[in-house]
Amino acid sequence: MFHEPLLLGFPDYQLQAKNLARLLKIEYAEAELHYFPDGESKIRLPIDIPSTVVICRSLDSPNDKLIELFFTVKELRQKGCERIILVAPYLCYMRQDKEFQPGEAVSQRWVGRLLASLVDEVITVDPHLHRVKKLEDIIKTRRVAALSAASLIGNQIALRVSDPLIIGPDEESKQWVEQIAQLHDFNYLVGDKTRLGDRDVNIVLPPSDVKDRTVVLVDDMASTGKTLINTAQQLKELGVDKIYCAITHALFVGDSYHELLATGVKEVWSTDSVSHSSNCISLASLLADTIRL
Ligand code: R5P
Repeated sequence: MFHEPLLLGFPDYQLQAKNLARLLKIEYAEAELHYFPDGESKIRLPIDIPSTVVICRSLDSPNDKLIELFFTVKELRQKGCERIILVAPYLCYMRQDKEFQPGEAVSQRWVGRLLASLVDEVITVDPHLHRVKKLEDIIKTRRVAALSAASLIGNQIALRVSDPLIIGPDEESKQWVEQIAQLHDFNYLVGDKTRLGDRDVNIVLPPSDVKDRTVVLVDDMASTGKTLINTAQQLKELGVDKIYCAITHALFVGDSYHELLATGVKEVWSTDSVSHSSNCISLASLLADTIRL
C-alpha cells in the first residue's frame, strides 16, 4: 500500500476529475468499467490503494453509478482504505424530499443514508435542498460540504453581458438569483411555477417592463428543460430579444437542449458538474479549495 492520497476517476467524468487531481497535486487513477450484455457493471480498480482516496464522479444518471459506487467503496475498504472522500458535484435524488403521494419512497432520505454508510466525506455543489435545508441532515457522515456555484455563475454573467435582468423561474431558484444579483448589483425577478407533470410546468412571471432588457435565466438545473423553455417562450412573446441561461447542473435530458435553443435563447452557460456541451464554468478550484487532505 502506498501512502499518498489518490484521486480515483471514472471515464464519464475524466476531464473534471483529472483537473481536480492536478489542483490537489495528487495522483490520478481511473476505474475501468465494463457493462455485461445483461446490464450488470464490472469495475476494475488500481492495484495499489492508499489509505485516503478521493472519488470524483458526478451522480447524474444515477442508478448504475450508485451501485458502482457501492462496489468501489466496498472494494477500497477491503483493501484497507481508511478515508474515502466522495466529490459528486451533482448529487442525485435530492428532489424527492417527501412522500408526495401515499406510498412513495422518500428517495432523498435513502440516498443520503446510503452515501453516509459508504463514505467519510461528501462534497457537492448546489444540491437541490428545498424542504430539508441542510445537507448534513440528509447525509449524516463525518463531513459534508454543500458548495454553491452562484458566485462563479455571477462572474460568467458579468463577463458576458452588461446590466442584465436576472430571472429565476420559481421560488426555489430565488436563493441563487438573489445571491448573484446582490454580488453584482443586477436587477432580478422571480417567477411562480406550478409543476403539472414531469414535462409540464406553468410559470407566471411578475409584471415588469422587460422588453428592452438583456435577460439571464438562472436556475440550479435543467432536466427536461421545460422550466427554462416555458420561461424563455414567455419572454419572447413579451418582445425580449436577448435571452441567456445560466445553470449549475446541465442534465438536459433527450433533445431538451436544442428545444431550449430553438426558443431563441442565445447561449446557455453551465458549470461542469455534469458533462455537457454548454459547460464553460469549471468547478475544479471551488472543489479543490474545500478538500482537506
Ligand atoms: C426545481 O424546481 C429545479 O430548481 C428546476 O427548476 C427543475 O428541476 C428543472 O426541471 P426541468 O428542466 O425538468 O423543468
